Amino acid sequence: MPEPLSQIDREAWRFINSVSVITVAVEGVANAMSAEWCAPVSLKPPLIGVFVGEERFTRRLIERADTFGVSLLAEDQAWIARACGRHSGSEVNKLAEFNIPTEPALYIPAPLIAGSCAQFECRVLDRRVYGSHMLVVGEPLRAVGYPQKRTMAYHRGHYYTLGEERTP
Ligand SMILES: Cc1cc2nc3c(=O)[nH]c(=O)nc-3n(C[C@H](O)[C@H](O)[C@H](O)COP(=O)(O)O)c2cc1C
Repeated sequence: MPEPLSQIDREAWRFINSVSVITVAVEGVANAMSAEWCAPVSLKPPLIGVFVGEERFTRRLIERADTFGVSLLAEDQAWIARACGRHSGSEVNKLAEFNIPTEPALYIPAPLIAGSCAQFECRVLDRRVYGSHMLVVGEPLRAVGYPQKRTMAYHRGHYYTLGEERTP
């Protein structure tokens, strides 16, 4: 058995992910962070997990929050992914400063991103630290999908529209 790797060759990072915006509001402070590491972790019950890096302002908020929002971005929302992924809420109110379109959630204090493909309002079920990132698992209290919107893909720092379907 080889020793576990201490770090991974950059060329091995060839994953394709969607981009979600994680919204958290604590004591009147609302913030939005882009996350490619956000995915379902269980179907029954439905659970969603997001990995939040230790340096993120979101990390400080989500450690204290009971709920968070997940807005799965549509293909025309790369600018939102960039705005929420290149700036920190510790320095700027991203939602206000970049005019990010939001709408109120029904069950959580954080807003949701308007025009996204799907929106989830989650209750925090569990938090666990894995190295640099904290996995926060949420139980959706409400989940809405907008099938007329197409999900955006993210790969090695670039944003893509989904391409042709391949028949196996
Ligand atoms: C497309 C994209 C995806 C990202 N995915 C993640 C992620 O899954 N987890 C994470 O901790 N940071 C991720 N980041 C980095 C954070 O979004 C970025 O550090 C952000 O400025 C943190 O905001 P905050 O300090 O307001 O929380 C991503 C950035 C981009 C642009």
